[in-house]
Amino acid sequence: MTAKGQPVGIFDSGIGGLTAAYAIIRQLPHEQIVYFGDTAHLPYGPQPAEAVRTYSADITAFLLEQGCKAIVVACNTATAAALNYLRERWPDIPFIGMEPAVKPGANATRTGKVGVLATAGTFKSQRYASLMHRYAKDVELLENPCTGLVERIENGQLNGPEMEAFLRNILEPMLAAGADTFVLGCTHYPFVQPLIEKIVGLHSSVINPAPAIARQLQRVLEERQLLSPGLRGAHRFYVSGEKGNFESLASGLLGFEVRVEAGVVL
Ligand code: DGL
Repeated sequence: MTAKGQPVGIFDSGIGGLTAAYAIIRQLPHEQIVYFGDTAHLPYGPQPAEAVRTYSADITAFLLEQGCKAIVVACNTATAAALNYLRERWPDIPFIGMEPAVKPGANATRTGKVGVLATAGTFKSQRYASLMHRYAKDVELLENPCTGLVERIENGQLNGPEMEAFLRNILEPMLAAGADTFVLGCTHYPFVQPLIEKIVGLHSSVINPAPAIARQLQRVLEERQLLSPGLRGAHRFYVSGEKGNFESLASGLLGFEVRVEAGVVL
């Protein structure tokens, strides 16, 4: 098979990257995806950058063994910790990373205050500092690492009064401080976007960067003449640890039945 017909690899610490996979499948229906959720090492957010870099490199090696022609790092925390390293180590492979949408957020706000929801690892990173420096000089960023939110989403808690109260605790102080724009800087968070939108109301905007990442992937594949010619194999899904709710949450989000291949030990 030529490189064009090879799959696109996508990874995250767990189910979060599926929100990017969803946008990619819609934007590029001829592409086959191989998805990897590193459930053995979840959550990435509180861990040292070196550990996340090692996981990311091991997963990339696995995805390349599966024949992937490009890799989407569908995790803000892993992008912050590992993207530069991955590009240096595999210079011929196109990598697409994800980072909090600070620039679109700064453009969208009318109050000059943007709520940023991301993980501790993302906030601590050099990459985030550079985003702030480049795009947030004239706006105020109100940050919250949403401790425990990733685990709740992995447990399948996507709505209900307990989740609503949890999110209100994060969002209401931002609203009170004047934020009118909210950036979802972790790929898990779009799973609770409807609830976030309910809390922040119709006059606020909530930015999920997944569709922009799918368009970016399309541009990169086009430039390198790597777009799939049409026929594709079935999407494949792997996890490194417990399956947990992966299959049911993935099937619910993607709209087709997802079955995880045998677990992979990295
Ligand atoms: N989904 C990931 C992100 O975009 C990381 C979540 C985690 O494992 O802490 O940052």
